[in-house]
Amino acid sequence: MTDAAILTVEDLTIRFGAVTAIDGVSLSVMPGERVAVLGHNGAGKSTLFKTVLGFLKPAAGRLAIVGAAPGSNVARRAVSYLPEQVVFPKGLTGTEVLTYFARLKGVAPKAALPLLETVGIAAAANRAVGTYSKGMRQRLGLAQALIGAPRLLLLDEPTSGLDPVSRHEFYDVLEASARAGTSVLLSSHSLSEIENRIDRIAIMAKGQLRAEGSLAELSRQAGLPVQIRVEAAAGRVEAVQARLGGERVNGQSVVLTCRAEDKVGTLARLAALGPDIVDIGIALPDLDDVYRHYSGIPIEGAAQ
Ligand SMILES: Nc1ncnc2c1ncn2[C@@H]1O[C@H](COP(=O)(O)OP(=O)(O)O)[C@@H](O)[C@H]1O
Ligand SMILES: [Mg+2]
Repeated sequence: MTDAAILTVEDLTIRFGAVTAIDGVSLSVMPGERVAVLGHNGAGKSTLFKTVLGFLKPAAGRLAIVGAAPGSNVARRAVSYLPEQVVFPKGLTGTEVLTYFARLKGVAPKAALPLLETVGIAAAANRAVGTYSKGMRQRLGLAQALIGAPRLLLLDEPTSGLDPVSRHEFYDVLEASARAGTSVLLSSHSLSEIENRIDRIAIMAKGQLRAEGSLAELSRQAGLPVQIRVEAAAGRVEAVQARLGGERVNGQSVVLTCRAEDKVGTLARLAALGPDIVDIGIALPDLDDVYRHYSGIPIEGAAQ
């Protein structure tokens, strides 16, 4: 185990009767690191979180939260959790909800209430939660999770049902928390939103960890192709294709597919074509491509 890690999971297996929900997963989260667990429904994401919280007993493997056992007092003080479906009493106001949770955590309500501002719902602080939109309830859920500056935030599909602007703001808050030293482990099956907002990605499928690393590392390891789209000058598309190969699209362009490590060499060949070319576009593999690759779903248009 790494002493410095906030969360260490080693060879974890969780079973529900005959169902193996988590199958030999190892994962760690360092201080201030944001890690996303990606996976389809049933991949084991929520089960992993519940195990970190100490709700479920491993069939095999070990976990440590700041070096302590899940569910221990030390671990419980270090971890905050936002469940998949957050439910607050409809009749309480945002202020009352936060006050309640602050007291539960032994934090002075006065210190917790500014979190309503942090998550952007200060204007609704004195309205009943029953009048909140889904997005506002999620924001309140995040505020609740941030009380007492936890060492580790566990957020189970926190942005499902949020509009793009709310999502963006949600990740802004996470970024600020991470900079202040809070580690984040969140789950999602929405992929594109995570790009650039997360330090590391763990891809789970059928209870197993299929891949783990930064998006750049995963892309490189996956060896996914880069596409270069070359727009030819008027009347030159045949000549360009004759020189470069690739595939003609829409009469005026040629699309080349190459390995990431051949990208620079390919661009050098393009530069040699001079005025025959009017524009170049490069499409790197994105998170969706990487995710499909590792979770075992064929990628459209790519050689398997
Ligand atoms: N309490 C439970 N009893 C039995 N099976 C469960 C229970 N919780 C989860 N499972 C099963 O474990 C697997 C992983 O579920 P879950 O962790 O909820 O996946 P995810 O959150 O990635 O959608 C699924 O096959 C699910 O049906
Ligand atoms: Mg789940």
